[in-house]
Amino acid sequence: MLDGAEGPGVQRAMEIVATLGRIYGAPDLVPVTHAQIAGVSYKNLGDAGVQFLKEWAAAGAQVRVPTTLNPAGMELARWQEMGISPSFAQPQLSAIDAFTTMGVTPTMSCTPYLFPGYTPQRGDHLAWAESSAVVFANSIVGARSNREGGPSALAAAIVGRTPRYGYHLDEERLAGIVVEVRCPVRDVADFGALSYVVGQQVGSATLWFADLADWLPPLPADITLGGAAGDRLKTLGAGLAAYGAVALFHIAGYTPEAQDLGERLIKPNARRLTIDSLDPGYRVMDADPDLRQIDLVTIGCPHASLSEIEQIAGMLQGQHVKTQLWVTTARIIRERARAAGWVQTIEAAGGQVVADTCAVVAPMRSIGVTSMATNAGKMACYAPAHSQVKMRYGSLEQCVAAAVTGMWNGQ
Ligand code: F3S
Repeated sequence: MLDGAEGPGVQRAMEIVATLGRIYGAPDLVPVTHAQIAGVSYKNLGDAGVQFLKEWAAAGAQVRVPTTLNPAGMELARWQEMGISPSFAQPQLSAIDAFTTMGVTPTMSCTPYLFPGYTPQRGDHLAWAESSAVVFANSIVGARSNREGGPSALAAAIVGRTPRYGYHLDEERLAGIVVEVRCPVRDVADFGALSYVVGQQVGSATLWFADLADWLPPLPADITLGGAAGDRLKTLGAGLAAYGAVALFHIAGYTPEAQDLGERLIKPNARRLTIDSLDPGYRVMDADPDLRQIDLVTIGCPHASLSEIEQIAGMLQGQHVKTQLWVTTARIIRERARAAGWVQTIEAAGGQVVADTCAVVAPMRSIGVTSMATNAGKMACYAPAHSQVKMRYGSLEQCVAAAVTGMWNGQ
């Protein structure tokens, strides 16, 4: 491949993979079962990124393992309805075209682990670039992925391999910090606040949560449903990856490797971190405490699971929203939710179940959104910076109430 025997597209991919392998001192390459590509929005790619993808596709590169895509900057079939300008939509569509020409499945979601048929298995080696998905796959599934970059995940997909270093190795999966949580952590917003309080103190360390299982119901046998536990854990992981650079955590007696190996997963010199309060998280994430009037309430970061959509539909039964309400999810999950009637309930209340995108990667200012509310830790971190919006942060109940009244009244 490196010598060009399989064409210039594959050669370029192997050059990237081999170079990364040398930089990180990998002994060899490991075959991957799945790749997930991030940095898909035109907002991130820019014209240079779109051109790079088009050239790679024109060079004949094809992925050789199932490969999925992160959210784009718009819902592909409804961008006009969303108020997206053609000058954004056209290059965005060209980028998606280049990906699909290379054989990538245009799922446009950050939660591939929620798709039936795509959920990785324990021990699978992956080349995933979406940081929130990497931490979920490593921690909750027990699969193995580094935090790939967008181009390196695509390169790995094209050559079917990634350098064997970092989280692909047993010794790199040991915890360097033991976290004890001494305060209640009751819902998704609390888990988001915890992700801030812990994340900004730990960098990229692997974590051992000593007592967090006390605040988690059992995971559903079918993880694609999400469930109360899955929803809390995807928020926790996303926030740890955003406020810190965490790619793996273990929960004593709960996550698969912790169940099997117990405290052998803790490094002998691990340091301890005790969390007594989530207040510092709420203070930072609820960034604009004087803000009352909300343009957009957005739920689903990482993209909403079936259980979250069901919960929101239940809360909106017979109600009507005064703000815009986006429940962002994958198209594949929206179809399942539509079959259950939950999408119709949300739409009847005036909300939207938006696929393919999210309020961080869509051009929110250009569609007139200047203030948001969310219950998602990562959204509270990224949207003010990426979309220049003001932010309120609180529970799902507070967010839905803000959508219905048009005002934030959370305490
Ligand atoms: Fe996904 Fe967008 Fe959040 S890509 S993790 S919903 S910022």
